[in-house]
Amino acid sequence: MAQYSVLFVCLGNICRSPLAEAAFRSAAEDLGIDAHADSAGTADYHVGRPPDQRSISTAEARGIDKSHYRGRQIAEVDYTYFTHIFALDHANLKEIERRAPIRATANIALLLDVIEGREGEAVPDPYYGSDEGFELVWNEVNQAARAIALQLGRS
Ligand code: 4NP
Repeated sequence: MAQYSVLFVCLGNICRSPLAEAAFRSAAEDLGIDAHADSAGTADYHVGRPPDQRSISTAEARGIDKSHYRGRQIAEVDYTYFTHIFALDHANLKEIERRAPIRATANIALLLDVIEGREGEAVPDPYYGSDEGFELVWNEVNQAARAIALQLGRS
């Protein structure tokens, strides 16, 4: 089992969190950190579905294939299996916290809290927006992913 296991959670698990997961996996690999990464949604709308085509293209532009990923909903076991759970925005953070079982051990936080100067900010939902929204998501989740990997590397 990996030393760290990190779960990224958005609403649908088809736009933001699959990109966050991919960015973190790549950052951890670059820094030689033994970490397992996964993602999930708080909603069940897209369970079993591939990521949004715009997320697939955004990842593909970075040499990452996310086309085989399938969406899933956060489950009770995630709260003990993962060492860290990062929410992409406030509504999902609230929902993750609301559903947390008493025996939860994962450290739960807002993703952008890991970036100095961005604490308390959300990664905006790009679903109803344009392609540029996905570039913005990538830049934010990639910055956060690098910061998490650096932090884990120091701990
Ligand atoms: P995500 O984006 O939470 O980043 O995966 C969304 C995907 C689907 C919906 C909303 C946000 N939806 O309403 O179906």
